[in-house]
Amino acid sequence: MAGARRAAATGGSPVPDLPDLPESTHFTDAADLTGFVAGLPKVELHVHHVGSASPRIVAELAARHPDSAVPADVAALAEFFTFRDFAHFLEIYLSVVDLVRDAEDVRLLTYEIAREMAGQNIRYAELTVTPFSSTRRGIPDIAFMEAIEDARKAAAAELGVSLRWCFDIPGEAGLEAAEETTRMACGLRPEGLVSFGLGGPEIGVPKPQFKPYFDRAVAEGLHSVPHAGETTGPGSVWDALTYLRAERIGHGTSAPQDPRLLEYLAERRIALEVCPTSNVATRAVPDLAAHPVREMVRAGVPVTIGSDDPPMFGTDLNTEYAIAARLLDLDAAGIAALARNGVEASFLEAPAKAALNGEIDAYLAAHLSAR
Ligand code: ADE
Ligand code: ZN
Repeated sequence: MAGARRAAATGGSPVPDLPDLPESTHFTDAADLTGFVAGLPKVELHVHHVGSASPRIVAELAARHPDSAVPADVAALAEFFTFRDFAHFLEIYLSVVDLVRDAEDVRLLTYEIAREMAGQNIRYAELTVTPFSSTRRGIPDIAFMEAIEDARKAAAAELGVSLRWCFDIPGEAGLEAAEETTRMACGLRPEGLVSFGLGGPEIGVPKPQFKPYFDRAVAEGLHSVPHAGETTGPGSVWDALTYLRAERIGHGTSAPQDPRLLEYLAERRIALEVCPTSNVATRAVPDLAAHPVREMVRAGVPVTIGSDDPPMFGTDLNTEYAIAARLLDLDAAGIAALARNGVEASFLEAPAKAALNGEIDAYLAAHLSAR
């Protein structure tokens, strides 16, 4: 991971340096795999707004807000973003959240995230946004909505990246946050909003308490996409399905511990948003080689690949695809199938899905015919 972290911190395109994974048997060297993944049109379904702030933006924000504990130089940030465990990750994450203090910070951050996505050939992303974190820090809710919507429109027009929002409840902030997030999602309903989520810690934050909020959001036509089974067992995935009416699951890392759950997810085509590097960085799994994505795929569960909080984990979506390709020993067609899984599991309309799948197929066909 050191190579990927270094590359991300300096803004280059990461080449995976993954000693705990076997090389691909289908690509003759790592650069071929990286090149194929880089050109592949992709969607990103599990990525957090503030968690996507690049070291350059974090450093800029930190310099503007010197009372913060976040280092203002890019080199020191790599060290700052090394986590002891999930609780430590959240502590650091919230210190970065604290740097986003006005609507202009929000607009700039959102647009810069889209720029980074464009550079990776990400065409469409459902970005998890936590409006409560910003409104609680004094940014008026309407100004927040205007800022993300302005950035969304500019990203589509200028960068060719289509952004949609998932508003999530920060679990650590309790029912007040749930109430406020639901009010903003249902009452202010920005045009790009498609789904409703739950993030933050899982341990000590039982999911059933959020049922009334998810019921309201779903009644308003929003899709349900909570995090579950990231740092807890499969019971929390069942809770997300039963109480929160989950249509996709953020992570679901522990799902393979329960074969009946895997069967249920496979039968109902409920996708897991798998973020391998995140799971290692937060110590949800001990190392990449131990990641349970193989069991998920073997059971027929739709798997999509996400980057979660990419600069904080020294990664990006392309790197996560390359890791998944090596974990699953995928050839080019297998990697393209992974990209189509993302399209299918997205909340895009059917014609947009067909268009994106067509682009993926054309890219694969061009790659195969060039060999
Ligand atoms: N918020 C940001 N990243 C998160 C993660 N990996 N799990 C839960 N909440 C988060
Ligand atoms: Zn997440």
